[in-house]
Amino acid sequence: MHNDLYAVVGNPVSHSKSPRIHGLFAAQTGEAMEYTAIQAPLEEFAETVRGFFAQGGKGLNVTVPFKEQAWELADVRSDRAQKAGAANTLYLDESGRLMADNTDGAGLVRDLTYNAGVSLRDRKILILGAGGAVRGVLGPILAEQPAEVTIANRTVVKAQGLVSLFADDAGNTSLGAAGFATVKGPFDIIVNGTSASLMGDLPPVPDTAISDRTVVYDMMYAASTTPFNKWAREQGAEKVLDGVGMLIEQAAESFRIWRGVSPDTKTVMQELRPPMA
Ligand code: ATR
Repeated sequence: MHNDLYAVVGNPVSHSKSPRIHGLFAAQTGEAMEYTAIQAPLEEFAETVRGFFAQGGKGLNVTVPFKEQAWELADVRSDRAQKAGAANTLYLDESGRLMADNTDGAGLVRDLTYNAGVSLRDRKILILGAGGAVRGVLGPILAEQPAEVTIANRTVVKAQGLVSLFADDAGNTSLGAAGFATVKGPFDIIVNGTSASLMGDLPPVPDTAISDRTVVYDMMYAASTTPFNKWAREQGAEKVLDGVGMLIEQAAESFRIWRGVSPDTKTVMQELRPPMA
């Protein structure tokens, strides 16, 4: 039988868990599809995407460092992708137009609300970082109507830029920017969207940001024991979560867009993350 072809494009891409996740989704739902990884040369992202669809490919996920290029390349962007300035999901519509979506924010929100049972509504949220990762998730976070969102960043002017960009989406949420040292806690939820953990660094947030009722989330999925999560545990945070659930939920959202079918993410979560000791 003919299988529809999907892939993740990145550089590097060999570490990507997306082929495994979508392979599990396909097996579980019985969808006739294959999902591979494609390493695009750094200067040839557009050619790689066009070649993939020209050969009959049905959908792509896009990862580092191509998410902004995917956004630029698209003919049509979803509202959330438009605002995110980056796309992680591509497909063609019936007229052959290249459609772009961004499922990262939906993945984060669903992991927090549905998997971890943490509502964002009326809560006081601190977001660390103001790069592409944070811009990608801010819209869906604000849509949950938190009471307050403070974006703290080493380079404060970048946090202020995001506050301006998302001012229209804030509704009744008080949206503000700060430096790490000046944040006023404790917060109900802290999301680390900096890449500091990759360098073994810790964003210098005061200990007063955390109480024993704070939920802490590190979007760096590859490491459940980041310096940030270790610090949060030492401060006695109520819950400390890594980004594995977000990774699986953003994939599930892409799968739904492509196939119109919702996979069961809980079983995939168990496959990817052995239960905590
Ligand atoms: P990404 O797409 O992963 O968001 P990015 O756009 O380069 O990557 O953004 C990286 C984010 O991590 C930024 O908020 C950056 O802070 P600056 O804007 O001040 O550069 C933050 N970051 C990176 N390394 C950090 C560190 N060692 N300590 C604190 N913040 C760090």
